[in-house]
Amino acid sequence: MQNFKLNRELAHLAVLQRTELLGKNLKKLRKLFGRYLFTVLFSKYFINPNKISKNYYHLMEKEFFLIKKYLKKEDRVLSIGSGIGGLEVLINKTFDTNTFFIEKNYISKKIKYGWDSKNQEAYNNLNLLADFLLNNGISQKKFSLFDFDKNDLPDIKFDVIISLYSLDYHYEFSLYEDYLKKIMKPESVLIFDTIRPEYFNSIFKNVEIIKQDLNTVHKSKRIVCRNF
Ligand SMILES: C[S@@+](CC[C@H](N)C(=O)[O-])C[C@H]1O[C@@H](n2cnc3c(N)ncnc32)[C@H](O)[C@@H]1O
Repeated sequence: MQNFKLNRELAHLAVLQRTELLGKNLKKLRKLFGRYLFTVLFSKYFINPNKISKNYYHLMEKEFFLIKKYLKKEDRVLSIGSGIGGLEVLINKTFDTNTFFIEKNYISKKIKYGWDSKNQEAYNNLNLLADFLLNNGISQKKFSLFDFDKNDLPDIKFDVIISLYSLDYHYEFSLYEDYLKKIMKPESVLIFDTIRPEYFNSIFKNVEIIKQDLNTVHKSKRIVCRNF
């Protein structure tokens, strides 16, 4: 498989979640017509789902290669802010993981990217996330979905916790800090993107930087943390 199955609705979510999937023209339209028309109209109807699907697949494949050494067969994985879940599909295919997702179940009216101190911004839909996972080969018994705003979060130990461009990138780490303490074992790994990797040296005994995004506005680094 060199591609994901994505319909227009899922391709719409993918471009909202990963702005690198937007072409130059869509970025121009966002500047010209503003965030509302961009969110509800251009980013949904002015895209080519097949093209988005291929590009999203390649993006997720790159992310997978970067982190696959932290995973092993049948790990229990938690994904915080997974988006539509392409990375988690690739992980499941290789490692037969059990994956738990915590996400938000709405799309903000006028999406605003950047730091969101109140954690109000969201761009997902749990029904579409489930459709994506099932259509791309994860069986129903291998995943569970949790709505951050409604459900109790899973109270079990995880081997690997992943949060790409979500935790401490859009909203404060402290929102999940106590929860993470409960669900991490000393050997569990937590992988996420942040602009302040040094801060985590005071929280975890082990912090490793595995990627730097110096060309983006946020200049973030991806870190792997172990041992609270
Ligand atoms: C920039 S997207 C990144 C999606 C995906 N991780 C990726 O790399 O393609 C950020 C995601 O975090 C989700 N999100 C926002 N607040 C959240 C929260 N408190 N808990 C879990 N997910 C959240 C958003 O709905 C969105 O899907």
